[in-house]
Amino acid sequence: MKITCIGAGYVGGPTMAMIAYKCPDIQVVVVDINAARIAAWNSEELPIYEPGLFEVVKAARGRNLFFSTDTQKHVAEGDIIFVSVNTPTKTRGVGAGKAADLTYWEGAARLIASVSTTSKIVVEKSTVPVKTAEAIEKVLRRNCADPNVAFEILSNPEFLAEGTAMEDLAMPDRVLIGGKETESGQRAIGVLKSVYEHWIPSERILCANLWSAELSKLTANAFLAQRISSINSISALCEATGADVQQVAHSIGTDTRIGGKFLNASVGFGGSCFQKDILNLVYICETVGLKQVADYWNSVVQINDYQKQRFVERMIDAMFNTISGKKITVLGFAFKKDTGDTRETPAIDVCKGLMADNAMINIYDPKVTEAQIHNDLSLGKFMWDHPTTAGTKSPRQNSVSVFKDAYEACKDSHALAVLTEWDEFKRLNFQKIYDSMMKPAFVFDGRNILDHAQLRSIGFIVYALGKPL
Ligand code: NAD
Ligand code: UGA
Repeated sequence: MKITCIGAGYVGGPTMAMIAYKCPDIQVVVVDINAARIAAWNSEELPIYEPGLFEVVKAARGRNLFFSTDTQKHVAEGDIIFVSVNTPTKTRGVGAGKAADLTYWEGAARLIASVSTTSKIVVEKSTVPVKTAEAIEKVLRRNCADPNVAFEILSNPEFLAEGTAMEDLAMPDRVLIGGKETESGQRAIGVLKSVYEHWIPSERILCANLWSAELSKLTANAFLAQRISSINSISALCEATGADVQQVAHSIGTDTRIGGKFLNASVGFGGSCFQKDILNLVYICETVGLKQVADYWNSVVQINDYQKQRFVERMIDAMFNTISGKKITVLGFAFKKDTGDTRETPAIDVCKGLMADNAMINIYDPKVTEAQIHNDLSLGKFMWDHPTTAGTKSPRQNSVSVFKDAYEACKDSHALAVLTEWDEFKRLNFQKIYDSMMKPAFVFDGRNILDHAQLRSIGFIVYALGKPL
């Protein structure tokens, strides 16, 4: 059996590496139109940072795992074609700002149709709107010259989280496969199931119809993000009342019906998918006339924007209502720890909010490159366009300095803002940092990872999220 995956990104790369690693009898080829990305997958410097990924790639690469730009050849030869291309939010036209942009998906489907001379199982790995399979089937069917070629479409959404992708892939809570309730649809489900059964117990492989599988992915992300917005909304109330959000989260999380996971209050959720997938859900609800349902889910994104804005306003307020010309050190720029990914990271909006008030920003992140940070901060984003900051000019690039060393980044600054929960921040020598800073020295812990009592005993003024002063 040969598996070809279109899209060598955060999902395609690690997912196919795990399949190849666990299934030595299957040939796996990952193709991409981005030649630089493919070259990196074939090198010692993989294009993404993910703990444990390199070891798995190393074990399978050249054996039964290959990365190639020859999309046509490998798609033509594949029995199962995974499509793991990006499905970003549309930026223009109908549904702009909400609907999923399926341009890349449709491009992949047209490619499959044009080169196929044998029947194939086409697997939706990308996160797509419910009913995408129907549209894709039409594109495949009507663009394939050979009427004897059959396409069976499956939905097999991916639930991995960045930073823990390899663990998630090795021991997933579940694998979900959706297919048609026809004989050929069920047969295709069986084929894909047999791939996963190489290492996943069959009771963890859930089967559903196509629409349930597609909608389950959007719903899972919406529920996860909703928990974060819920606890973040409570963090605001904690600050106003003297309650401690970590104590509240612990108290409610011990109720097994609620559960303790995903209740860490933060400066806001980031990542390429939560916002995109909720907006997509909102758009689908609106298009089928479910306005109240759309409004409900939209509020999850609104609270997230509010949390980032609130964090900035609290900083400015604490620092005597002026941060103009003050140096602020941002510790962590990635959207979460153990990844170099900055897509939709809350750090972008927080930095832009601070820059709008003329602060000088020093940034240190263990994995994000300087070029990436400058690129992210030069794009127009929510905080910059927000009514409270409307009319301000573009961020000045020279107000941002990126450091390779946390201590250097903290020198002479007025405040530290922890925006990513990297473990190494907990181990910093804060006495040394305090001694090198301007006074009063502030800490704004947007992840509640530091020892606040210890920081206060050193002399810092500490503002922790959702905690009493
Ligand atoms: P990504 O941007 O990292 O990778 C997508 C890749 O597809 C890019 O390298 C791009 O060059 C390639 N591509 C696009 N069109 C192509 C074509 N016609 N032929 C060949 N290659 C093509 O995206 P990602 O983060 O891997 O996400 C992919 C999908 O998986 C999205 O739908 C996303 O919502 C979903 N998803 C992502 C995650 C995550 O943690 N990032 C988790 C679960 C699901
Ligand atoms: C998330 C989901 O967890 C995955 O199941 C899903 O496959 C993926 O989206 C996707 O579809 O892309 P990911 O975004 O990689 O994974 O990472 P998460 O661990 O979910 O974190 C997302 C954001 O929420 C991060 O900014 C994180 O810091 C924040 N978060 C998470 C909190 O603020 N509090 C929490 O308690 C948990």
